[in-house]
Amino acid sequence: MKAIRCLQYGPPADLVLEEIDEPAPSKGKLVIETEAAGLGYVDALLVAGRYQVKTPLPFVPGSEVAGKVVAVGEGVSEALVGKRVMALSPVGALAEKLALPAAACIPVPDAMSAEAAAGFIVSYCTALYGFETCGHMKAGETVLVLGAAGGVGMAAIDVAKAMGATVVAAASTEEKRAAAKAAGADFAIDYTKEEWRKELEPLTGRRDVDLVYDPVGGDISETAFRCLAPGGRHLVVGFAAGDIPRIPLNLPLLKRSSIVGVDWGGHIRADPGANVPLMKTLTAWASEGRIHPEPAASYPLKEAPVVLQRLLDRESVGKPVIRFQG
Ligand SMILES: NC(=O)c1ccc[n+]([C@@H]2O[C@H](COP(=O)([O-])OP(=O)(O)OC[C@H]3O[C@@H](n4cnc5c(N)ncnc54)[C@H](OP(=O)(O)O)[C@@H]3O)[C@@H](O)[C@H]2O)c1
Repeated sequence: MKAIRCLQYGPPADLVLEEIDEPAPSKGKLVIETEAAGLGYVDALLVAGRYQVKTPLPFVPGSEVAGKVVAVGEGVSEALVGKRVMALSPVGALAEKLALPAAACIPVPDAMSAEAAAGFIVSYCTALYGFETCGHMKAGETVLVLGAAGGVGMAAIDVAKAMGATVVAAASTEEKRAAAKAAGADFAIDYTKEEWRKELEPLTGRRDVDLVYDPVGGDISETAFRCLAPGGRHLVVGFAAGDIPRIPLNLPLLKRSSIVGVDWGGHIRADPGANVPLMKTLTAWASEGRIHPEPAASYPLKEAPVVLQRLLDRESVGKPVIRFQG
């Protein structure tokens, strides 16, 4: 089968597309024929060897996947063969077939495409967990989404709108701001401008926001925190800018606002059952058309290195998905 492999850490251009052995279904596992794989910033960092955890070499990158079950191992129901599933796997998604623990696989709703399913679990669960469990967001509140045109940001816009929030999308380019608005944001702001905070009031009629959704970090985080209204919540999601901000502790006091960590991965590792209600809500919303996880574009397997490089270069727009058919 064809797979993209990382033989050494470095630029995604060093990845190789090659033939490797197909996986066999061992006890408790099933094998899927991959239909689509979602990529994110973390996948690109793993390939570059810049992530906090190093994956042993060689490896097949990609951790989000959707496909059709083609074989099952001992202890796994034969009835699963032919069913469409989505799952997370530490690595391995950029291959035509992948063995997965059966317990890790979630059925794909009939109305959802493989491309949507492959980009769904991480970014949408993080958004719902962040807004609902960590941020206690209520309908009618206003949220400022940083890095709004990234994969995580776009899902946050979609989920926040489904929860009845007003969304201000912050992004660095006109193309990204247009994409964020097309994804449902009510307003878009250029947060690379010096005085971008001052643009909130003319845009929204308010000088402040109730929540900040922050997958970016760096210098922007403190300015975003200063945008919070009393009782505001700054949701710490990630550090795509590279630098981990150090917010002075007098700020939460003076702003009467909180900084809340959103570690969805840690949340479900601590309690694997905790993701069931999140997925139940999100798949129901997707089936009702309340959220819109279809990616704007998908790419063939051979383009995966270019897609990963774009993530590293801050040039990616939306959730990048690799498709295996067509
Ligand atoms: N907490 C959790 O459970 C969780 C779950 C999933 C992902 N994450 C984290 O979320 C973050 C975003 O992931 P993603 O897949 O959405 O990435 P992405 O698609 O690349 O989006 C990240 C956004 O960050 C902004 N950015 C600012 N400085 C950047 C830089 N130096 N390099 C790259 N992007 C930069 C970019 O927007 P502008 O150009 O508009 O500034 C970009 O669109 C990652 O740090 C990831 O680790 C956290």
